[in-house]
Amino acid sequence: MSNTPLMVGKTVLVTGGTAGIGKATAIGLARLGARVGITGRDIARAEAAAADIRAASNNAAVDALAADLSSQTEVRRLAHEVLDRYPRLDVLVNNVGGFWAHRRVTADGLEHTFALNHLAAFLLTNLLLDRLKASAPARIVTVSSGAHTAGHIDFDDLQAEQKYAGQRAYNASKLANVMFTYELARRLEGSGVTATVLHPGVVNTAFGAEDQAAFFTILSPLLRPFMKAPTRGAATSIYLASSPQVEGLTGQYFASSKPKKSSKLSYDSAAARRLWQVSAELVGLAYPPETPHMMEVHDIDALNVQPRAGARAV
Ligand SMILES: NC(=O)c1ccc[n+]([C@@H]2O[C@H](COP(=O)([O-])OP(=O)(O)OC[C@H]3O[C@@H](n4cnc5c(N)ncnc54)[C@H](OP(=O)(O)O)[C@@H]3O)[C@@H](O)[C@H]2O)c1
Repeated sequence: MSNTPLMVGKTVLVTGGTAGIGKATAIGLARLGARVGITGRDIARAEAAAADIRAASNNAAVDALAADLSSQTEVRRLAHEVLDRYPRLDVLVNNVGGFWAHRRVTADGLEHTFALNHLAAFLLTNLLLDRLKASAPARIVTVSSGAHTAGHIDFDDLQAEQKYAGQRAYNASKLANVMFTYELARRLEGSGVTATVLHPGVVNTAFGAEDQAAFFTILSPLLRPFMKAPTRGAATSIYLASSPQVEGLTGQYFASSKPKKSSKLSYDSAAARRLWQVSAELVGLAYPPETPHMMEVHDIDALNVQPRAGARAV
């Protein structure tokens, strides 16, 4: 058996790699020999995290990229930077996500939890898809949550204008992660690019700290000792990004590095197709409705379309 670390020669992008589960994922993949790009909102924080990851992994090939992924302009700029910087992309880990107790609106006029937790992954994945296909076999790993099982996609109030509750918005966004992955896997059939989705466990990170729910402010100090450390929370992401055991495996949900059934709603393929189409409209990616496979994207600038006016929430 070869002693070469598994990911030597591979390039990985981990969104939200400056802290928590994403940073631990980046350390794990860098230890396996990958070149790892991490993203965060602030370049100084991302550079500091990249330095930590280099030191912890003994791998100098760690790059810091900055983008506020709640903004579609920033997602597009990040995609440009990734395409310029990396001639190949073997793994995309869509890890960014969070919880906000109060409704916020992004620069694009969209509800923030849905925009960051779901639409950012949707848009970034689509913009990087040609590069992933050209690098096949390649993998797209999306970090969802067990909270998706309580989620429901309300197509009549996708921007939560009528009703917002932090947990409800979070659950729906995490269900969207699972449905996106299943639909993506269907569209990528035969391309050599796989799509999997996971629950990392309950992990001791800064999750939710920017706008904490009142009950969690009280509960969290009591719960923290029982939560997984980020290193353990990253284990399933690292497994799906690197293990030969899951080579070629696609369209599945994992927890504790094992395949698991996701919620009943997540397997509704008509709803997943509808979510895909609505998401494409919200990010300004137009797909012919009857096209079974994704439209090929050869010119990223051709996709630089703004969300339709009617799709704006404010
Ligand atoms: N922790 C848990 O128990 C748990 C459980 C289930 C699922 N998850 C999922 O795991 C993933 C990671 O969560 P975590 O607990 O590691 O969270 P975390 O510690 O809060 O880290 C979040 C990461 O996302 C980045 N980020 C936040 N807002 C951003 C934005 N607008 N644009 C770009 N980057 C942004 C942060 O970077 P900067 O602050 O540097 O910008 C940071 O790197 C999420 O998808 C979450 O839903 C977590």
